[in-house]
Amino acid sequence: MARSRNRVAVLHGVNLDMLGRRDPEHYGTLTLAELQTRVKRFAGDLDLEATFFQTNHEGEFVEYLHRLAERADAALLNPGAWTHYSYAIRDALELTGVPAVEVHLSDVDTREEWRRTSVLEGLVLEVVLGEGPDGYRRALEIVNERLHT
Ligand code: DQA
Repeated sequence: MARSRNRVAVLHGVNLDMLGRRDPEHYGTLTLAELQTRVKRFAGDLDLEATFFQTNHEGEFVEYLHRLAERADAALLNPGAWTHYSYAIRDALELTGVPAVEVHLSDVDTREEWRRTSVLEGLVLEVVLGEGPDGYRRALEIVNERLHT
């Protein structure tokens, strides 16, 4: 039987549907579908059940967050460029009350200055940066620990 409190929503924001066509130096070569397949496998290894959502529309991302608490026990968020300026997404995440980890494929701290700011600061359990797809495994381990210890 599936464990309770094991549902993890993995949310990708703007332009992440373009993975596979974006700069491989920063983002690697996997498409979003391939990344999601890998994350599903990482989740399965931890007995977590991953569900996926991506949109290029900020309002849709916000509305997904409004419903998040009904469908997930924890979340991984890679909001793409919204990370750096969308206070709407920050406010929406705050009201979910769902434990979340922020993930970035690239090391945003060593890139342009504007990428060093995250509107999610202080709301997330941890930020995982620059580890490519493996960063999602690390992020799943963090939420797993929060859910089951
Ligand atoms: C990103 C980093 C952001 O700065 C950028 O806008 C993205 C992807 C990452 O995964 O490294 O779209 O979130």
